[in-house]
Amino acid sequence: MNRELSNPEQYSDLWNKESEFLESHQVYSQLSKMTPAGKALEFGCGVGNGTHYLSIDREVLSLDNNSQLIEKARDRANKNVAIYQCDFFELTEADKLVIAKFNPQVIVGWFIGGCGIDIFKRTKEEPDEMTKSKLYREKIEDIIVSPIVCLASVEYIHLVSRGNLAAGFSEAEIFEHTKNDYDTHVFKRVGFDVIEVKNINWPREGSEFQYGQAHNPNFAGGRTVPIITSIVAKRVKHP
Ligand SMILES: C[S@@+](CC[C@H](N)C(=O)[O-])C[C@H]1O[C@@H](n2cnc3c(N)ncnc32)[C@H](O)[C@@H]1O
Repeated sequence: MNRELSNPEQYSDLWNKESEFLESHQVYSQLSKMTPAGKALEFGCGVGNGTHYLSIDREVLSLDNNSQLIEKARDRANKNVAIYQCDFFELTEADKLVIAKFNPQVIVGWFIGGCGIDIFKRTKEEPDEMTKSKLYREKIEDIIVSPIVCLASVEYIHLVSRGNLAAGFSEAEIFEHTKNDYDTHVFKRVGFDVIEVKNINWPREGSEFQYGQAHNPNFAGGRTVPIITSIVAKRVKHP
């Protein structure tokens, strides 16, 4: 069984371990250096590791629906951090007001994922278990770029995901391919453009976290390398 298909308590334990693993490899501190300056609205605080680095030089409002993870993240939080409980898929008028009052300049979505129960609840139309995780991430990316979240104050969006990259491509080729994909499917229609793509090593040795990787129909085969991809998009057109 895929161990990510968990309830919120189980997922909290799993993500806690995985996040501490990423933290022990300095992944969060590296990613925070790629985030453009400005007040950040974070989608998913997890245990608060990313929140911590983001908050070193900015205010952060972090949204999450997992009570156990929120408790851990609040323990780690400093005065620059506010953690707010809500469900990305069911933002109420009160939730929207909290976001609007914060007046975010950057939206951050790192390692977007969720507990199995949430993933199944939101991806009923997709029968393939591996593809469900991908669809769940894509649906949250759509929420991030929706007008209720991506307010006029937002100038940058910073997404981070992980996957396997076919070996042998140059940095320029990876940039062009990723930009094309994200501009077409996520950013263009809302007036944003990918301006930077960076790949860092995704340490896997010692990790127990089961990562649901969807089949890539464009992948021709050959050697792949596990990577963490950072994508920064900038607003080019104001609403
Ligand atoms: C894979 S973790 C990543 C956490 C953090 N960004 C990090 O990099 O460590 C995904 C987070 O998003 C939260 N999340 C997933 N689905 C959510 C939803 N529908 N509403 C609110 N939070 C959600 C989870 O509870 C979890 O904390």
